[in-house]
Amino acid sequence: MISQFNVPSTLVFGAGASRELVPQLARIGARRVLLVTDAFMVSSGLAGRFSRDLGEAGIAVALFAGVQADPTDGNVGDGLAAYRKGGCDSVVALGGGSPIDAAKAIAVMTANAGLLGEYQGYHKVPRAGCPLVVIPTTAGTGSEVTKVAVITDTGRNVKMMMLDRHLLPQVALVDYELTLTMPPALTAHVGVDTLTHGIEAYVSRKATALTDPLALTCIRLVAEHLEAAWREPANRAAREGMMLAATLGGMAFSNSSVALVHGMSRPIGAIFHVPHGLSNAVLLPTATRFSLPGAPERYATVARTMGLCAADASAEAAGDSLVEGLAGLNARLRVPRLRDCHGVERARFDSSVEKMAADALASGSPQNNPVVPTAMEIIRLYGEAW
Ligand SMILES: [Fe+2]
Repeated sequence: MISQFNVPSTLVFGAGASRELVPQLARIGARRVLLVTDAFMVSSGLAGRFSRDLGEAGIAVALFAGVQADPTDGNVGDGLAAYRKGGCDSVVALGGGSPIDAAKAIAVMTANAGLLGEYQGYHKVPRAGCPLVVIPTTAGTGSEVTKVAVITDTGRNVKMMMLDRHLLPQVALVDYELTLTMPPALTAHVGVDTLTHGIEAYVSRKATALTDPLALTCIRLVAEHLEAAWREPANRAAREGMMLAATLGGMAFSNSSVALVHGMSRPIGAIFHVPHGLSNAVLLPTATRFSLPGAPERYATVARTMGLCAADASAEAAGDSLVEGLAGLNARLRVPRLRDCHGVERARFDSSVEKMAADALASGSPQNNPVVPTAMEIIRLYGEAW
């Protein structure tokens, strides 16, 4: 089997990596950047800090801080207008997965004339966009190293998944020092999202020899560091471990794929605005139990890698310990049940569940799962996660 592997051409990792922004932009030849971020990054002072650094280096900055959680086609259009108004030649993304995904879409729209919705799906973006440099502030969605962006189509109320190598940033500056102030709940949710990336990349039908080692190292690092990062936000070793896990998990799933958890998670986000990491975390134990029979040896390796069972445990016993271990991790990190997530009401859930199952299947992700579910099975799984 032939496999292709795409990552950013430059990845700078470690404490202080974000201070490489000016030299990296200078290397690319950027003169006027659009800084894509959100209101929190402005209020925290981080957007201002980077803007000042750029200004002092003679690089002009247009600020676009209008990205919302679950970024929309409207956010991308507004960002593109700001890029053109500012006469920009490049984009810098600062923040979590939402600003980074929005920035990826803005960057490709600078060079492609179609409507954003035309690029939904796999390998649909005709031309590379302007240069894109990304600075993640969470660990993480892994978006800084992936060729994937998820943007809500507000007309259809669907989270559009786009996968194309033109969505890859040129440069990722991965600086765990920016995550030292992440609050515990966010640490937990994006941390379990990272674990989901590792697990789904490893059990996916599209897993390759190039992605397996990255996925397994991601899984091991989350097992080692997530709870410490959640308990002690300033624990540098734990934050560095989680940042590395997020980076490796992103590289793994971007070149393998995600699967059922992400497929079922996006409709929850589109309809109820449950944050991406949280909706994945809520679904992970349930979807894993359903998927075990399709890849028992792979799931057993995941359980062993997380230290959830003895090295010589049978595949069946290891699979059981994995499901228990994932549910236990959620409980310790205080991840709520689906019914307890803010904004999820039973009546709307019941009336939406058929559309959610159809949208999950239409995204293509469940088709990569070890067991490919029917729409009826997805509806049942939503009910089990409730
Ligand atoms: Fe994710």
